[in-house]
Amino acid sequence: MGKDFLSLTDFTSEELMETFKLAAQVKKLTEEGKCPQPFKGKTFGIIFHKPSLRTRVSFETGIYQLGGYSLFITDKEIQLGLRESIYDVAKVLSRYLAGIVIRTFNNDDVIELAKWAEVPVINALTDLLHPCQIMGDLMTIIEKKGSLEGLNVAYLGDGNNVANSWLNAAYMLPLNVTIACAEATPPDPEIFHRASDSGVGKVRIVHDPIAGVENADVVYGDVWASMGQKDKSSEKSQALRRFQINDELLKHAKSDVIVMHCLPAERGREITDDVMDGPHSAIFDQAENRLHAQKAIMMKIIPSTKR
Ligand code: CP
Ligand code: NVA
Repeated sequence: MGKDFLSLTDFTSEELMETFKLAAQVKKLTEEGKCPQPFKGKTFGIIFHKPSLRTRVSFETGIYQLGGYSLFITDKEIQLGLRESIYDVAKVLSRYLAGIVIRTFNNDDVIELAKWAEVPVINALTDLLHPCQIMGDLMTIIEKKGSLEGLNVAYLGDGNNVANSWLNAAYMLPLNVTIACAEATPPDPEIFHRASDSGVGKVRIVHDPIAGVENADVVYGDVWASMGQKDKSSEKSQALRRFQINDELLKHAKSDVIVMHCLPAERGREITDDVMDGPHSAIFDQAENRLHAQKAIMMKIIPSTKR
């Protein structure tokens, strides 16, 4: 197992499955008031250059439950590559911390930070990827459906960081992932082609929302304009309005479909209130599982002997 978790592809398929198993065990232990505390005396840096509710709170809470302490660091303190080089930031933080969690814009900055850091680095979202989100989501799907094998996941909307991480999930695991998006909003072509050429699972891109959700076990949504792209909001809404997740569209999925959304949602835009709060919704269970999945990721990669 590598030192970092920057993408789902940093773990092998077996390591991903072991992580879901560990996450379920740690969830149960936490509910019983017996959460393990391997991080006693350890401090983690949480560097965020974009807003966050779930990711920040679940990482900080998870680190605390595992016995550690977390420092929330914004761009007021660290301007990667501006106030000082990424190399220098990585070297200095490695002298203090047991691990670094980072949310920023450019995925290459995270790769560079991890290259020079001597402690594990976890990607908490970039413009390209959101791997921790998909780990919590896959854990939730296993809870609801028993296994991932052969399931049809339909992602509707913008071909963004979450869509790209779903393609990586199909690259690593036996899932069928459909990205239903507008022609103008595709996922990353390189990530798509790697998954379609040599994935464990299958991927496809469709431009018809009904074809996208046909036979789906999971229907998944995200905002149409991501953080850092809010100026493109009306353009994206125009392109994606056909892809709204609503009761009418869900009639074309399997009758026991579960609906997921990474949140934050723009209710009434990419998903209706009826669906978000309806009987198929797993949205708040999936938000909770961010906590458990991330605890398992940290337990897998943070050595108990280091500072
Ligand atoms: N889903 C998610 O990552 O939410 P936040 O942006 O609030 O962390
Ligand atoms: N695609 C969204 C995900 C938010 C968790 C964004 O990047 O804003």
